[in-house]
Amino acid sequence: MTESANSSPSLLETAHRVLPGGTFGNTAAEVIIVEGKGSRVWDQDGKEYIDYLLGSGPMIIGHGHPEVTAAVQAQLTRGTTFFANNPQGIELASVIVDAVPCADKVRFASTGSEADAFAMRLARAYTGRSKILKFEGGYHGYSDYGLMSLAPKQPGNSSQPIPDSAGIPESIREDILVAPFNDAVAVESLIKENRNAIAAVFMEPLQRLIPPEPGFLEAVRELTLAHDILLVFDEVVTGFRMSYGGAQQYYGVIPDLCTLGKAIGGGFPLSAVAGREDIMALFAKDRVSADRFVPQVGTLSGNPIAAAAGLATLAILRRPGTYDRYFETGEKLMSALSRCLDEAGLEAQVVGAPPMFDVVFAGGAVRNYRDTVRADAARMSRLNALLKERGILKGENKYYLSTAIDEVDVKQTIDAWRGAIDQLAAA
Ligand SMILES: Cc1ncc(COP(=O)(O)O)c(C=O)c1O
Repeated sequence: MTESANSSPSLLETAHRVLPGGTFGNTAAEVIIVEGKGSRVWDQDGKEYIDYLLGSGPMIIGHGHPEVTAAVQAQLTRGTTFFANNPQGIELASVIVDAVPCADKVRFASTGSEADAFAMRLARAYTGRSKILKFEGGYHGYSDYGLMSLAPKQPGNSSQPIPDSAGIPESIREDILVAPFNDAVAVESLIKENRNAIAAVFMEPLQRLIPPEPGFLEAVRELTLAHDILLVFDEVVTGFRMSYGGAQQYYGVIPDLCTLGKAIGGGFPLSAVAGREDIMALFAKDRVSADRFVPQVGTLSGNPIAAAAGLATLAILRRPGTYDRYFETGEKLMSALSRCLDEAGLEAQVVGAPPMFDVVFAGGAVRNYRDTVRADAARMSRLNALLKERGILKGENKYYLSTAIDEVDVKQTIDAWRGAIDQLAAA
């Protein structure tokens, strides 16, 4: 931690010299993390943080867990990638089939974006239709189809497909429909207007931090079944996080397909498409006619190091009591955060679920993307900066909770909230 302290200015300078914007595209250039252990990380200056960034989610059991490290070390000495079936990948697929309700079969990729892109193509191939209905504010990776109406700046009167990046061809918009989250009536009317053209409704079952209202997922499930449209849950975040069987188990609504990522790779690049046998069969050349076959291939798909780390992570998560403790800690943190905001008299609320939550600086119900746009973003960045000074590391809009957070971390976090929120309110 101390040895690199002197090199920090030059490391940052080098980053600015060789990386666009000085970053990998994820977090601000000034945040250079050199070590992580359990619930904590250290930056290049040796400053210690309680980590709620969590590598954007994968480090659900904390950093450097000895059982994960041992599993990875054991595999390292036997080889690191083969482009062939390997025992760890096969075993991980089997663990996923046992855990995730919709999963009859599993195929691996390396990132959530890839899994989402494969799932969209699979749904299109299976139904012979091309449109995907997604929800405004939902994220499904960086593919041209995925990166639509995640964060539209000028969303217009009704939800519509708006590219979130330059370089996405105009033609892509024709095949994406966008509805407001938690609005089953809007979903129904889009389905009726686009009869026989929609391959799948693609959704985060808990969108970013916005939980589904009671009955919403059930209504979407019914509508998709009634119109022979596939329902795909993007569980890259919620998989093995909302419960061991993911959001589909937590909410009791089973999609036809889901995508998984983050937690299943134990901190290494690994993602998956999982789902119904007859749909997943389109990935198997010998099971379908040539015109229905969907090639699904990737140099590192099912990588044995990532699979070994994922297996060790999931083994720890399925120990009795893990999710109860995890949710208790999250609930405790969420209510303490609410209390701090109330006591400071700020117009704000805590949105999310115990595994991931954050403050929204706005009053009124938060049911969809547009309700979050009303929030005071400048105040949010100010609070994040004040917390970083106090040793709390988090993403711009999310606290990701790890099972490594203990009583000491909770107390320290609440003290930091109190100090930062009081300072914010006084400004
Ligand atoms: C819901 C969801 N889907 C897909 C992705 C893309 O995953 P990756 O960053 O591994 O490509 C993310 C990433 O944060 C995500 O939150």
